[in-house]
Amino acid sequence: MHLVYDQVVCVTGAGGFIASWLVKLLLEKGYTVRGTVRNPDDPKNDHLKELEGAKERLVLYKADLLDYKSLCEAINGCDGVFHTASPVSEEEHMVEPAVTGSKNVIVAAAEAKVRRLVFTSSIGAVYMDPNRCPDQLIDETYWSDLDFCKNTKNWYCYGKVLAERLAWEESKLRGLDMVSISPVLVIGPLLQPTINASTGHILKYLTGAVKTYTNSVQAYVDVRDVAAAHVLLFETPAATGRHICSESSLHRGQVVETLAKYFPEYPVPTKCADEIKPRSRPLLFSNQKLKDMGLDFLPVRQCLYETVKSLQEKGHLPVSNKFFIGCSQAI
Ligand SMILES: NC(=O)c1ccc[n+]([C@@H]2O[C@H](COP(=O)([O-])OP(=O)(O)OC[C@H]3O[C@@H](n4cnc5c(N)ncnc54)[C@H](OP(=O)(O)O)[C@@H]3O)[C@@H](O)[C@H]2O)c1
Repeated sequence: MHLVYDQVVCVTGAGGFIASWLVKLLLEKGYTVRGTVRNPDDPKNDHLKELEGAKERLVLYKADLLDYKSLCEAINGCDGVFHTASPVSEEEHMVEPAVTGSKNVIVAAAEAKVRRLVFTSSIGAVYMDPNRCPDQLIDETYWSDLDFCKNTKNWYCYGKVLAERLAWEESKLRGLDMVSISPVLVIGPLLQPTINASTGHILKYLTGAVKTYTNSVQAYVDVRDVAAAHVLLFETPAATGRHICSESSLHRGQVVETLAKYFPEYPVPTKCADEIKPRSRPLLFSNQKLKDMGLDFLPVRQCLYETVKSLQEKGHLPVSNKFFIGCSQAI
C-alpha cells in the first residue's frame, strides 16, 4: 500500500457506519485525519480512538452541519474533505440539515482551498423515477424525480437529490474540485457500537421483528468497498462526476433465503407479504465507472454473511440457540 504521510483530510460525520471504515482506511494509508462528530465525548465515538494510527493521526472536532464556523475549524488547512455526514431518516425534518449542511461544507471546503471534496450522495438521488423503464441499466446520468419523491413523502431521497444538486452548483460556482459517490444500500461489518439504518434493514429479518418480506428488490454493497471507493475517488485526479457504488441487487426473497441458509437459528420470515403480484424484477445499476478505476466488489451474499457475524460479535444478536427457541415461542 502506498503511504501518504503528508496529507491532512477531514471526514464529516466520522462516527457513522461508512465514515468509520473510511477513517480506518485513511489512517492505514498514512493520512492525518480530522473527523467531525457532534459530541467527541459520546462513548458511541470511542471506536474511532481505538483505530490503528488514531493516537498519532486522528483528531476529533466537535462540529454540527448547521454550524458553519465549527465546520471551518475542522476543514481549514486540509488537503481534502470527505463529506459523509447527513441525517439518515425518512422524516421531513432531515431535509434541512442535509441540504444546508452540505452547502456549509462545500463553502468551507472552497474557502479553505482544499484539493478535492468527495461528496457522499446516495442511489436515492439517482433512481427514484416512476417513468423509468424497469429493465433499463441505470447509470450516473439518471436523477431521481423531485416531485415524485415529495409526493410519495420519500424525504430521504428528496433531501439527497437537493443536497447533491446544490453541492454540484456550489462547487462549480466556487471552483471547488468535487466528485460524488452514490452507494446503494450499504451492509457489512460494523465498527461503531450502534445500529445504523442500513444494518438495521438486515437485523430486522433476524430478530422476529418482521413476519413477512416485501415483494421488492434492493441493491447492496459492502461498507469496505464504499470506503475504498471514497479513497480511490480522492486519489485519482482523473475521476470526475458521479459514481454509482453497487455490487448487485437481490429480491427480498433471495435475502431472506440467504440469511436462513447461513443462520437457521434465527426466525427469518419465509412468507412474502405480496405473493399475488409477480416477483419484482432486479434493479440494474452500472458500477462500471468504479470498476474501470480498479475497484473489485465483494459478492453480496458474502456481505450478508459478514453483516450477521458482525451483528453477533457486537452483541446485537444473541448467538445462543436457546434464546431463539424461547423467543419464537413467546412471539
Ligand atoms: N448506509 C447506507 O446504506 C447508505 C447508502 C447510500 C448513501 N449513504 C450516505 O452515506 C452517508 C453516511 O451514511 P451512514 O449509513 O454511514 O449513516 P450513519 O451511520 O447514520 O452516519 C451518519 C452520520 O451523519 C452525522 N450527522 C447527522 N446529522 C448531523 C448534523 N446535523 N451535524 C453533524 N453530523 C450529523 C451523524 O452524526 P451523529 O453520530 O452525531 O448523529 C453520523 O455520524 C450519508 O450521507 C448517507 O446518506 C448511506
